[in-house]
Amino acid sequence: MYLEDDNLVIRNATQHDAETLCSWWNDGKVMNHAGFPNGLGITKQSVVEQLASDDDKTHRRLILEVDSVPVGEMNYRNKGNRTAEIGIKICNFEKQEKGFGTRFLKMLIGCLFDEEGYEKIILDTNVKNTRAQHVYEKLGFREVGTRVDSWRNQLGELQSSVDYELTKGELNRG
Ligand SMILES: CC(C)(COP(=O)(O)OP(=O)(O)OC[C@H]1O[C@@H](n2cnc3c(N)ncnc32)[C@H](O)[C@@H]1OP(=O)(O)O)[C@@H](O)C(=O)NCCC(=O)NCCS
Repeated sequence: MYLEDDNLVIRNATQHDAETLCSWWNDGKVMNHAGFPNGLGITKQSVVEQLASDDDKTHRRLILEVDSVPVGEMNYRNKGNRTAEIGIKICNFEKQEKGFGTRFLKMLIGCLFDEEGYEKIILDTNVKNTRAQHVYEKLGFREVGTRVDSWRNQLGELQSSVDYELTKGELNRG
């Protein structure tokens, strides 16, 4: 996948991105929202292997660039029934809350609906992540449920998640 919108690019992650991904995933500040406040503790080799298993029809790791510089990552996973699960992480804190997340999500979701034949996008987020919830709802995502105390983070603390879904007609493309 290669998507471009003015100064933003979404492209497939390659093994050349393994070092960058590794440094983001091992950073507890970046990974806290996903339940890993101490970071993943992953090796570059392990990231290379993960990336090697990517393919367009099942799952794909994507790099987000602003002005040609990697600032974060997205991914999508084919869940069957023309449904894709997606995730997004802007890892460079200085690039958060500048409207980029909203634009990247519109780019990827538009492509999954219009080019890749998906009819529904699903995702979940931590109940405490009100910023992500605001962005998802602005794009048209519908909350379909909350799973209270459904998992524990790396420190053993119970966490709750909100599940969202979005069909093609619901996407706010404006
Ligand atoms: C969540 C994320 C993708 C959003 O992208 P972004 O570029 O930072 O956000 P945007 O600038 O596009 O939009 C931010 C919006 O949230 C609002 N917002 C900021 N903090 C908020 C909060 N605590 N609660 C509710 N809304 C909040 C802003 O006012 C803005 O709203 P507006 O567009 O209506 O003015 C990005 O911050 C990110 O990757 N964060 C770290 C990882 C993460 O949380 N990923 C999602 C996990 S499911």
